[in-house]
Amino acid sequence: MKRLVIMISGRGSNMAALIEACRTGALHGIAEVVLVISNRPDAGGLQVAREQGVSAVVIPSRGRTREAFEQEAVAAIREVGADFIVLAGFMRRLTPLFTDAFPGRIVNIHPADTRFHRGLGAYEWAWENRLPVTKITVHFVNDKIDDGRVVAQADVDLRGARSLEEVKRRGLAVEHRFYAEALKMAFDLVG
Ligand code: GAR
Repeated sequence: MKRLVIMISGRGSNMAALIEACRTGALHGIAEVVLVISNRPDAGGLQVAREQGVSAVVIPSRGRTREAFEQEAVAAIREVGADFIVLAGFMRRLTPLFTDAFPGRIVNIHPADTRFHRGLGAYEWAWENRLPVTKITVHFVNDKIDDGRVVAQADVDLRGARSLEEVKRRGLAVEHRFYAEALKMAFDLVG
């Protein structure tokens, strides 16, 4: 069983989908979520995780150096003995202090083709450009935003979408199904 630590900054809908996938879905018998870390005390995902019986802690990033935040996060992850660190709406760039501590063991989901869009506002970008199809990218994480070797991508059909809300709804539905599948591929790539 792979031990996963999930890092969030907000709502945590991908986190919730992964907890579910570990219990009854694509990751059942393959992985378990041992800890959720939020860098924001007001992240809605914290309560969602706890309601699911998963330990969730805040390691605040605001008002601290990147080094202080990352040292504390690395220590917490080492303490639980994680095999993979899964970023799920974790909205903060990481430095080599963190990424070098877990080489090839950190993955992220980004709701665009990372060759064409990185950072915030990926669904807004797809909507404003009226893309007929956008992509969800799951990739290994380095010290740049939404960068690193791609594990897998999935298409989101946006034809006929009539609002940004609809674009997000369709995209998130793909994210929630796809992240668990892509994680399995990442496990196979790294071993
Ligand atoms: C998701 O759409 C995720 O792909 C995106 O933030 C949202 C978090 O939602 N991540 C990025 O844009 C990374 N650059 P969630 O908290 O409900 O999973």
